[in-house]
Amino acid sequence: MPPSFHSSPKASPGRCSTSVRSPSSRCAGPRRTAPKRDPLLDHILDRHTNRTSFDLTRPVAPSQLETIRAAARNPDLVYVNQALERAEKVQDITQRAWDAWIGYAPTREEVAHWTHVGNAAIAAAPYGPYVSDAALARAAGSVSFETLSDPSSAQFQANRTAYRRTVETGHAHLWIVSPAFDRKGMFEAGRDWVRVHLQARALGLDMQPHSEALQDFQELAADVRELHDALGVAAPARIQMLGRIGHRERVGPSPRLPASAHIGV
Ligand SMILES: Cc1cc2nc3c(=O)[nH]c(=O)nc-3n(C[C@H](O)[C@H](O)[C@H](O)COP(=O)(O)O)c2cc1C
Repeated sequence: MPPSFHSSPKASPGRCSTSVRSPSSRCAGPRRTAPKRDPLLDHILDRHTNRTSFDLTRPVAPSQLETIRAAARNPDLVYVNQALERAEKVQDITQRAWDAWIGYAPTREEVAHWTHVGNAAIAAAPYGPYVSDAALARAAGSVSFETLSDPSSAQFQANRTAYRRTVETGHAHLWIVSPAFDRKGMFEAGRDWVRVHLQARALGLDMQPHSEALQDFQELAADVRELHDALGVAAPARIQMLGRIGHRERVGPSPRLPASAHIGV
């Protein structure tokens, strides 16, 4: 029987009947398949940014990096590296960019201002940089806005040393590129960053972003250029996320506001 294009008062496959009196529609549309559950969902509660030093006695397997890359929605925009020379270049640029970033007084003071010191301050504002009570007990000196923003303080120097050490344990890196430096590329990269991080967790691996040489302000422009050259990414393409991957013991979740703070009910 040829397809009929006559309108019919009855619902037909692919059509919905909606009455003006009753806004609810009765659809007899194409049979919908049940949504497929993404196995990455299993790792959401286990995914945390890991800022500790990675265990260099347990290298990441190349096949693991490939599996992580393949988890992205756009794997062609995701790159990985384990070649030591390039990894050391990433470490070097990241460390120098950190110095430039924190050496610039406005950003240094902004970070110090937003760092929540102690568990009570973290609980009152659960987001952003923080120093827990446990970290305070181990601190090299007093931790306050003044010491965090003073490059000559013992605490500032201890933070710098600790940060440099963790960067040096990055022997496997992953970066996500957008074809252009635009909002769409930023969102797409963010979506894929979460996916690759979840896949890393599925393999028992940890990740930390290294955004120091990706900061979008004039004082960091030379570092941003150097990183793009080192990783072979030419304009208009732009690296949106870069991070290290490795093994380490588990860390807990970063402080965060409850979902209800973001989603109105
Ligand atoms: C665009 C972007 C860049 C980030 N860059 C860094 C970074 O360079 N270093 C870092 O330790 N955290 C960085 N973060 C923060 C953490 O990766 C993470 O999003 C945040 O601390 C929440 O913690 P969670 O990953 O444990 O949920 C960045 C976050 C975003 C959204």
